[in-house]
Amino acid sequence: MNEKASGVAKEFDRRFGRRPSISRAPGRVNLIGEHTDYNDGFVMPAALEFATLIAAAPRPDRRLNLYSMTMGEARAFDLDEVRERGRRDWSDYVFGVAVMLEKSGRRLGGADLVVFTDVPLGAGLSSSAALEVSAAHALLTAAGLPFEPVAIARICQEAENDYVGMRCGIMDQYVSACGVAGNALLIDCRSLESRNVPIAAKLRLLVANSNVKHQHAGGDYNARRAACEEGVRLLKPHLGPIKALRDVTPAALEAHRGAVSDLVYRRCRHIVTENARVLEAERALKAGDFAACGAAMNASHASMRNDFEITCPEVDFLAELAQKAEGVYGSRMTGGGFGGCTVSLVEESAVDRVAQILVDGYRAAHGRKADVFVCSPSAGAGLVSL
Ligand code: GLA
Repeated sequence: MNEKASGVAKEFDRRFGRRPSISRAPGRVNLIGEHTDYNDGFVMPAALEFATLIAAAPRPDRRLNLYSMTMGEARAFDLDEVRERGRRDWSDYVFGVAVMLEKSGRRLGGADLVVFTDVPLGAGLSSSAALEVSAAHALLTAAGLPFEPVAIARICQEAENDYVGMRCGIMDQYVSACGVAGNALLIDCRSLESRNVPIAAKLRLLVANSNVKHQHAGGDYNARRAACEEGVRLLKPHLGPIKALRDVTPAALEAHRGAVSDLVYRRCRHIVTENARVLEAERALKAGDFAACGAAMNASHASMRNDFEITCPEVDFLAELAQKAEGVYGSRMTGGGFGGCTVSLVEESAVDRVAQILVDGYRAAHGRKADVFVCSPSAGAGLVSL
């Protein structure tokens, strides 16, 4: 960590000739609870050691000078010339957060900023949220304002919804802001409260990146969200004052199955059963019943594949291969979907063997390279000391 931080500080000094403070916000892996967040439901992600670092120092004016070491590009923004929408590139995640922070009544000052990330981009590990939350932390620190994790997570989500144009839920920003080392977080996306779920010392989270990214993932994501909203609209006359699929039990959905199309029914069935699986996984992990947690993860994958239809052959292959391997409790796709990564809950002693099985099997079946890494749940956003 310190090596990365001192690299960013050095680049900052070279460009701007002074000493910055360094903000850090992590990416995440979601153990279970996919697409439930924007349905007011439950999720159980963990923050990763992969993170975005931003070196920052205040300026006397209202200008933001931004350089990304990862992209090799510079962008500038004037806080007094606010546009409603971004310019459709990576800088939107930073400037959108600045716009929304000011909209929330937090008066920012200008700042020079240098960004570096080691969160794999476009892999479903929340590189966007890591950039947003680290930007918020850096801008607030430069302005001498406090970083209030849950409130800031909401503001970052707003930036992504309204400035970037992706209708994501709160999960990624929340865990990037609030993550706790050694723990997953059970987040209630309605109350915005969370509980720590310790990851036992003998377990490892093995993430496998399929290196596949569906081109229209953003549009498909928004379409899934629209189907859930349609389900709520059509079920409301039958179920009374429901606000979200969070309020629908699996039994109630079955009883009124005829009120919605078959497609909307299957979309809703994924959400209502997934909420139950998240709570079961939390219970199981806390009780040391890793097999039950793994079974919930496997069922989650099947539901994403068959009902929500957000997997693809490459991630199905990786999840199913892991599920069959000895020492693996469970495996599923993680993140928004249409490619990206799987997460497997693995016995510590089996982790190297399972990683090799995934890399070899994936190459043989799909002719592609899988990047496999073992994750330790890290802490959420904060300052890095050099
Ligand atoms: C993306 C979104 C999250 C969440 C997941 C799916 O990561 O940013 O809000 O909806 O997809 O669980």
